[in-house]
Amino acid sequence: MCGIIGYTGKAQAAPKLLLCLKRLEYRGYDSAGIAVLCEDNFSVYKRKGRVDELEGAKALSGTTGIGHTRWATHGEPSEKNAHPHLYGRYAVVHNGIIENYRQLKEECEARGERFTSETDSEVIAHLLDFYDEGDVLTALRKTCARLIGSYALAVMRRDRADALYAARRKSPLIVGRGNDGLYVASDVPAIAECGELYSLADGEFALLQQDTIKFFREEGEIGKEQMKLTSRAEFPDKGGYAHYMWKEMCEIPAAIAHSIINFDSDPRFSAFNIVLCHTKYVQIVACGTAYHSGIAAKYLIERAARIPVEVTVASEYRYGDPIIREGTLTLAVSQSGETADTLAAAQLAKERGATVVAVTNAPDSSITRIAHFVLLTQAGREIAVAATKSFNAQLALLYSFGTALAAQQGKTADRSALLSLPALAEQTLSRVEKLKMTAPFYAQARSVYFIGRGADYCAALEGSLKLKEISYLPSEGYPAGELKHGTLALVDEGTPVVAILTQRAVAEKTMNAVSEVYARGGKVLLITSFPEYTARKEVSVSILLPACEELYSPILSVIPLQALAYYTALARGNDPDKPRNLAKSVTVE
Ligand code: F6R
Repeated sequence: MCGIIGYTGKAQAAPKLLLCLKRLEYRGYDSAGIAVLCEDNFSVYKRKGRVDELEGAKALSGTTGIGHTRWATHGEPSEKNAHPHLYGRYAVVHNGIIENYRQLKEECEARGERFTSETDSEVIAHLLDFYDEGDVLTALRKTCARLIGSYALAVMRRDRADALYAARRKSPLIVGRGNDGLYVASDVPAIAECGELYSLADGEFALLQQDTIKFFREEGEIGKEQMKLTSRAEFPDKGGYAHYMWKEMCEIPAAIAHSIINFDSDPRFSAFNIVLCHTKYVQIVACGTAYHSGIAAKYLIERAARIPVEVTVASEYRYGDPIIREGTLTLAVSQSGETADTLAAAQLAKERGATVVAVTNAPDSSITRIAHFVLLTQAGREIAVAATKSFNAQLALLYSFGTALAAQQGKTADRSALLSLPALAEQTLSRVEKLKMTAPFYAQARSVYFIGRGADYCAALEGSLKLKEISYLPSEGYPAGELKHGTLALVDEGTPVVAILTQRAVAEKTMNAVSEVYARGGKVLLITSFPEYTARKEVSVSILLPACEELYSPILSVIPLQALAYYTALARGNDPDKPRNLAKSVTVE
């Protein structure tokens, strides 16, 4: 999603803005730009495509500037739609969506103002200029009062060469002081060197001028505490790997090992264990891959703790009418901790009385400020847009949660199998290379189907999502039993079907579905932990998983599926780290 950066200080702004924009690249974007303020003039440089295209902007002179990576929502990715947007005395960068921009634009146009882009954001620069009768903060307040939707803003006024202004509502914004000047940014890692960091809350404004940072709300100036960072941001490089995605897959065993929590014996969780004792219902809200980890967790929690679990896509939950009964614990699962829909769902659950528990890989993210309890996955920073190790880490943590919940409810829960998972993941990784040979076949497929039953269904969903994201092949994941209720009509000679089979009680039933696919000419790739099925005539290619406690198996079976997506993306000539149209951090709904 869009990334924002702003700098004011003694150094040249342009090189700093470009460095920080590089750090925001992981969020996903399709154009980028910067504006630098020098002698009452804005120098602007925008490009469609990568931040690297802004190299020429390095020469822009000025010590105050703003920059932006844009993920198109209103208007195509293009130079004219890229930020910063300028009007009158103002330059603005915006992350979020202005829902009433059409009406506001009409008002501006009725005054004779002309727009140069198709974006919703440009209207902000127009309003600022309109409301400015001398005081920028008043103009900013009046402008924000007109906006419906979400925004994080960094603003410059043409004749204020030493000042930056910022405002936030429902989109993250951080303010920082470094050795060389003052910064605003969409996230902490972008301005990692800043010794002092502050997180703007909804409805707050900031003025950064010379050496001073001031914070305001509607009613006037406010004090603000520095953020207490639980970790310092890291910037991993590719470490010799061709792509971040593959590197991050190789880090799965460590991510699992570090994300297993022993709730019973760790004194930091004593209050949490009391909550678990009183938990009668579990809800899980999340999006995308994190939602799939919720589905896997449901199988485990219901089986081990005998507590009902409802898993809901966060964008549906937030606009639904969720029922929170006494004893409801809502897990909000989000790798980035910044996904707008998950944040809103967590907030709604909290307002309705649930105990909200954030499961996130980002220690200082927005979700940690909403939740009553925070459980951190320890996957390390994930750069590739497609989630891999963070998913395995979520499963490790949610499985730990499930066994702890079971124990607190007086059920016997065997944790020991959890501890073997990192080694089993290592073994699984060593078995996926043969999929490289299969990838060219997948690369030319029209569509690919993934099937599985029980916990394997979750792996089917995630395998399909990974393939879609980075290979751009149409794909669906189904419960194996659903195949003949419609999808089988799509299977004919050569259709690839991936079957996941790790649940003993339903193994034969999944094999029935495999036979039905085979009978219609489909080509089956089998991912199984049962060696006896690998030699069956219906199976074209198989990956044998190491033996593992069945309810934990998605944490292993997903690894070959991630690898299949990776190899297929390469075979199709795609960059697996930067899939088109997608963002790592989905900060707008
Ligand atoms: C898939 C993927 C997305 C995210 C989803 C939620 O590879 O990365 O589906 O899982 O956007 O993101 P988080 O977990 O940051 O809330």
